[in-house]
Amino acid sequence: MKQKPHVYIIATGGTIAGQAASPSATVGYKAGELTVGQLIASVPGLDQLADLSGEQLCNIDSKDMQESIWLQLARRVNEIAARSDVDGIVITHGTDTMEETAYFLQLAMQTEKPVALTGAMRPASAISADGPMNLWQAVKTAADENAKGRGVLVVMNGQIDAAKNVVKTNANTLQTFRSVNSGPEGVIVGEKIFWQRKNYFFEEKNFPAVRENKIAQAPENFSLKQNSDSLNKNFSSKNLCDIANKNFCLATKYFFSTENISCLPDVKIIYGYVGGDDQLFFNAALQNGAKGIVYAACGNGSVPEKLEDVLKKAASSGVPVVIASRCSEGIVVLSNEVKENLHCIGSGTLNPQKAKILLQLALTKTNDVNEIKKIFEDEWNHVPLCGMLQKKITAEY
Ligand code: SIN
Repeated sequence: MKQKPHVYIIATGGTIAGQAASPSATVGYKAGELTVGQLIASVPGLDQLADLSGEQLCNIDSKDMQESIWLQLARRVNEIAARSDVDGIVITHGTDTMEETAYFLQLAMQTEKPVALTGAMRPASAISADGPMNLWQAVKTAADENAKGRGVLVVMNGQIDAAKNVVKTNANTLQTFRSVNSGPEGVIVGEKIFWQRKNYFFEEKNFPAVRENKIAQAPENFSLKQNSDSLNKNFSSKNLCDIANKNFCLATKYFFSTENISCLPDVKIIYGYVGGDDQLFFNAALQNGAKGIVYAACGNGSVPEKLEDVLKKAASSGVPVVIASRCSEGIVVLSNEVKENLHCIGSGTLNPQKAKILLQLALTKTNDVNEIKKIFEDEWNHVPLCGMLQKKITAEY
């Protein structure tokens, strides 16, 4: 008889572990009160899905998440994932910064094993608390063979989203996480997962050289018709060959090891708005030694004229500036003039908070603006494709 998969749960706090004074209170409660053992015990039948073990990494409201905890978490995830007796990992987390932690881990983690983050919008003490079902669905996902190689996933309210695309879109409702610029990886209905996107991890057999960790050519006859995702139908097999030649990086090209890093480089986000003191904030960031800046611009990354001088100053100081957008969806592709004269980098599909993370990790490896530009381009170029080949194909930058 096949043994159950072993899912390891790392608890970090959040509303899923929150307690309020009354069962109807969904605001004004304290996040991060229950322990990992109490969370597991609160879900009937969880142990039928998988053998479970776990640890409490911290017990905080995720508004208080810190980069030092991310570094610790990435190390633990890499360590636990390397264990032969662990098949998948679940991380319980507050929803407020879950998309940031998920994306950081996506870039700092090196495993093909499923890693699923989950949380709750209602505290554990609430009538119809959503935490127990979310935890059940996250364990179900982490125990699923077909979740392998899809990278870090966020599992909330019956939906499975990829770390790179997922965004918290509503401050209050249970259905708050959405994959912007794309659809979810999968949905969970009843006790079954319906994967919406093809998993390229299992396409390795089509690309023998990948197994040897070499850059591979996609075979002539590889057909994207196999793929049910409509976005992918826009890609011809020629496109796929091009992508294959870029190391098969279908969702995230690079893995950034954080093993020997004690803190992340200082990158500031500056928010653009009518009447804003953008120059003041740019100057303050530069004077305070920021290593990079993300500008949350309006629209498709329009740079206001008033910023020209400070952007030139940033360029001459060798401080990369990534232009992202305040809009919740879309892609920031900069004009050649902004790219070349002002040395700015377009964030692609990354929102400001995710662009900050990629810029921080890129800066741990290089200060060369052109190299960082390439990292961003590689990252968003692959957005329309789904699934991913992790571990064996993800290049360490
Ligand atoms: C938090 O992010 O820790 C509090 C809010 C939540 O989990 O929904």
